[in-house]
Amino acid sequence: MVADSFLPDLFVPDKGRPACPIFLLTKQDLPNWLKAHAGRNAAWAQSNDFTAQSGRVLMIPDKSGGVEAVLVGQGEAVDYMSLGAVPKAVPAGTYRLADDLELPDMAQAAHGWMLGTYSFDTYRSRPRKKEFPQLVMPKQADMTKILALGEAVFLARDLINTPAADMGPIGLEAATRELAEKHGAPVHVIAGDDLVTQNYPLIHAVGRAAYEAPRFIEFSWGDEKHPKVTLVGKGVCFDSGGLNIKTGNYMDIMKKDMGGAANVLALASAIMQTGLKVRLRVLIGAVENAIGPDAFRPGDILPSRNGMTVEIGNTDAEGRLVLADLLTEAETEAPDLLVDMATLTGAARVALGPEVAPFYTHDEKLAEALANASRACRDAMWRMPLWAGYDGWLGSKIADVNHISSGPFAGSVVAALFLARFVSKKRAWVHCDVYAWNAKPRAGHPVGGEAQGVLALYHLIEQNYAS
Ligand code: BES
Ligand code: ZN
Ligand code: ZN
Repeated sequence: MVADSFLPDLFVPDKGRPACPIFLLTKQDLPNWLKAHAGRNAAWAQSNDFTAQSGRVLMIPDKSGGVEAVLVGQGEAVDYMSLGAVPKAVPAGTYRLADDLELPDMAQAAHGWMLGTYSFDTYRSRPRKKEFPQLVMPKQADMTKILALGEAVFLARDLINTPAADMGPIGLEAATRELAEKHGAPVHVIAGDDLVTQNYPLIHAVGRAAYEAPRFIEFSWGDEKHPKVTLVGKGVCFDSGGLNIKTGNYMDIMKKDMGGAANVLALASAIMQTGLKVRLRVLIGAVENAIGPDAFRPGDILPSRNGMTVEIGNTDAEGRLVLADLLTEAETEAPDLLVDMATLTGAARVALGPEVAPFYTHDEKLAEALANASRACRDAMWRMPLWAGYDGWLGSKIADVNHISSGPFAGSVVAALFLARFVSKKRAWVHCDVYAWNAKPRAGHPVGGEAQGVLALYHLIEQNYAS
């Protein structure tokens, strides 16, 4: 069950009609603006303590009590995404940016605007008001792309926000089918004990104790002759920790542990909707990490799809096991780009906090390209090292590899090093350890599920892989 939060009428093409102006003002710009608007408008800004504080939205009334202009504070530097604060703060009507922007900046502003309309209403008996203001867009703007990226973010958020009771392995399969079928891509699923016969032993082991059977979900889309892009997502629909059960409130938001899969589906949605010239392949491991008589245990030694035996140190480090089998399968087609996304470690949050997603790759050029894409899109990602010196921490005395280290250090790096064991060194592979959640609201980013890396990765693929 996914909310239909996509609102197609948030934008209007510029036909030169009057619209309420929106001023994006930095602290440095403000004195000039006050001079240029001396009189009633400047007085209103000052008497309302508008100092261009970042995120502040101020409406200026006209003589009849309507809105004459809107000011959006930018702090020290302009952030076009700050328009996310506007749609819920102003009445329905037509608005335009007071200053013309270059098209890429305008696209960012429109993206922010669209994000600012999101709310997750699936479970409300009385949905909230739906009439949003409209933003005037230049005729040359690529609205297909702007809407596709906004819709992608909404999809990720809806999937993550849906409680695990409705978004278990069955729900995640249904959501994948809905997306893939919309674009004419057939879906292939292997579920339950078939995972054993078809050699996905780790996906099976992690998910086998749950009421809803674990599953491998796959679809491909696009011309086979185009560059191959494979996306792999961690779809742990609920992470109780397994027998190493999570304590305290660490389990509270673990419906979001399919955030990697949600982000992968969001990225796939944007790629398909805009018709990027790639051959896309999506692989998702959908499981619930549950407790039951059949649960896998600490100390178990499990086979993996590529034949390596894995000693289980902690059943709460389940995501990397699911990904290992998916990456092994992804390798068989030798994709030109292999991306995996996963809410893999708490340690990634300790390192970089909730807003910045660490990424890992052996490929220097790819690292640079993704860092540039991340900067250009204001979609924060930061490279962390696949530090070879820590690889030995994954040693096991009785199996080929342990899936965790015995020490507390560099948890996100060690998880990435475990994944690296299942990927060829030559592969253009990026692993993204995402959080996929906002605990605190920001403009355009309400509390709850969040897309991370979707914009940056889309940009990377569009610029560097689409033929
Ligand atoms: N899903 C969690 C990681 C997580 C926790 C992400 C909280 C975001 C917020 C993952 O399966 C996990 O529990 N990892 C453990 C690994 C540890 C047992 C080696 C962790 O990070 O603590
Ligand atoms: Zn876990
Ligand atoms: Zn997990």
